Amino acid sequence: MNVSGEQIRELLEGLKKSENEKEISPKYFYDERGSQLFDKITRLPEYYPTDTEIDIMRSNIDEIVELIGPKASIIEFGAGSSVKVRILLENLRELAAFVPVDISEDHLLAAAEEMRKEFPDVPIHPVAADFTKPFDLPSPEVTPIRNIVFFPGSTIGNFTEDDALELLKVMHHEAGEGGALLIGVDLQKDPKIIEDAYNDSQGVTAEFNRNMLRHLNREFGADFDVSSFKHDARYDEDEGRVVLRLISEKRQAVNIGGEEVTIAKNEGILTEYSHKYTLEGFAAMAAAAGFRVEKVWTDPERLFSVQFLVRD
Ligand code: TRP
Repeated sequence: MNVSGEQIRELLEGLKKSENEKEISPKYFYDERGSQLFDKITRLPEYYPTDTEIDIMRSNIDEIVELIGPKASIIEFGAGSSVKVRILLENLRELAAFVPVDISEDHLLAAAEEMRKEFPDVPIHPVAADFTKPFDLPSPEVTPIRNIVFFPGSTIGNFTEDDALELLKVMHHEAGEGGALLIGVDLQKDPKIIEDAYNDSQGVTAEFNRNMLRHLNREFGADFDVSSFKHDARYDEDEGRVVLRLISEKRQAVNIGGEEVTIAKNEGILTEYSHKYTLEGFAAMAAAAGFRVEKVWTDPERLFSVQFLVRD
């Protein structure tokens, strides 16, 4: 990552906030080790979302294929190499294109190359862009009948409600006339199941959370005392979200970008939210972005949902 003045300013702004309002953007989770740890999270026994979503997709793939129809263009918001999009590409017929959209160009192009080998008959058109803002779509040789935006993993839940609504509006725009959105949405449930998912017994999520500080120490020359930070993940039932924080077990002064910020003993730094939705709550937000929920698939325990939203 190229260290820019803009990034330092943003980091300092988040860290200079008053006690217990400090925050660091979740984008700093993902250096090489962070991506490996995240991968490991998705395979943890307590982390139900990944397996549940894959099961839901596999169990309902015939209906999903039917709803999408022929000659679609699949626009994945995210790098597009996961087993989830493979389920779609393996089953859809006469695909017009697969368009993975990701901000990290290296990662995107490597993933696209891999997918070309696996799916030689699918035209693959990667787009390097920040998908939170409108971007131009490529023009594949076969004109798609419709665009299907694909956004798995309940990544929508990592955005604040305002930002999630904005992102749904971008998806609505990219789907275009007649288009649709296939999205994974994690559901509100027994808080114990949720908290266990973000507090795994092997401590992988804790390591993932703390790794953000290692990343900042390396890339930004910061000097967080990483081992003095404790991982904290609690489900706030009223807000319907998991709050991930790093709590400093001691008072410490941290140097970053030539400035010093002080973190109090037991002060927490917010690193990410993971919102959980009710079906009604998500449908209301989708409606505000111009989508109508056409179909919801869930697992028998109603842990997770995969939803097909059409443009109104
Ligand atoms: N969107 C998923 C979730 O919120 C995956 C994820 C994103 C995640 N950031 C995370 C999981 C941080 C654990 C910790 O669950």
